[in-house]
Amino acid sequence: MNRSDTIPPDLILAMREARNIVVFTGAGVSAESGIPTFRDALTGFWQRFDAEDLATPEAFARDPELVWGWYEWRRMLVRRTLPNPAHLAIAAWVRSVPRFTLVTQNVDDLHERAGSSGVLHLHGSLHAARCVACGLAHLFPAEIPQEPEGGRRLCPPCCAQCGGLIRPGVVWFGESLPPDVLDAAFAAARACDLLIAIGTSGLVQPAASIPLLAKRSEARLLQVNPMATALDADCDWSLRGAAGVILPRLLASV
Ligand code: APR
Repeated sequence: MNRSDTIPPDLILAMREARNIVVFTGAGVSAESGIPTFRDALTGFWQRFDAEDLATPEAFARDPELVWGWYEWRRMLVRRTLPNPAHLAIAAWVRSVPRFTLVTQNVDDLHERAGSSGVLHLHGSLHAARCVACGLAHLFPAEIPQEPEGGRRLCPPCCAQCGGLIRPGVVWFGESLPPDVLDAAFAAARACDLLIAIGTSGLVQPAASIPLLAKRSEARLLQVNPMATALDADCDWSLRGAAGVILPRLLASV
């Protein structure tokens, strides 16, 4: 383990020599932007519900207005936030490495708003939606209607193609991750020479297997997190601290 203000010389060398980097982010990378976690978004109108009762296909089938209202509420909360220095450093890093893949478990769009493109969203996105019946993607208008403080039930839109209900484009409890995105993330992990895990507890599968896959394929593993995690034992370097502080320092040292 290293303190955040000390970047070990062998890590600096590994970052400079890396030709193929995978950055793997979790909720912690957006913490300093003030993105509410799953449970923190259960305030106001939502405080009497459990996240597990809102984030399942069964919940949407039972009460689509309730579930759609919650996701629109979360989308509005995210829209009020800004990318932080960690998102910006990750977006800038791509310019100094021949191959760079960004894999995230987050459903916010802060990596994209920081300038990253081609982000692999393992758990989907709050800003994508699709028809439950025919799968047609649904585009949100750029502007989000202002919700009353506390949120409310909202009627989901209907599909222009078949009239089916539009559902949030996130992965719910009990659902599989999008196979094309997962395959691309696994392939990137197998091929990289350095994987940087940022702000993830490393507990939620199958995403949590991505750093270990990279390790088994002989990549070096760097973790950035203020707390101990399930990944600690496998890391070559663990920098303890906030992503928004450490990522700009790492980028400056490359
Ligand atoms: N910088 C870096 N890491 C941070 C920061 C910060 N400023 N603040 C908190 N963290 C770390 C925490 O110490 C913790 O290890 O971020 C991690 C967040 O862990 P989780 O909440 O478990 O988030 P994540 O690993 O992304 O969870 C995966 O679980 O809730 C589901 O679908 C959801 O995508 C999510 C998945």
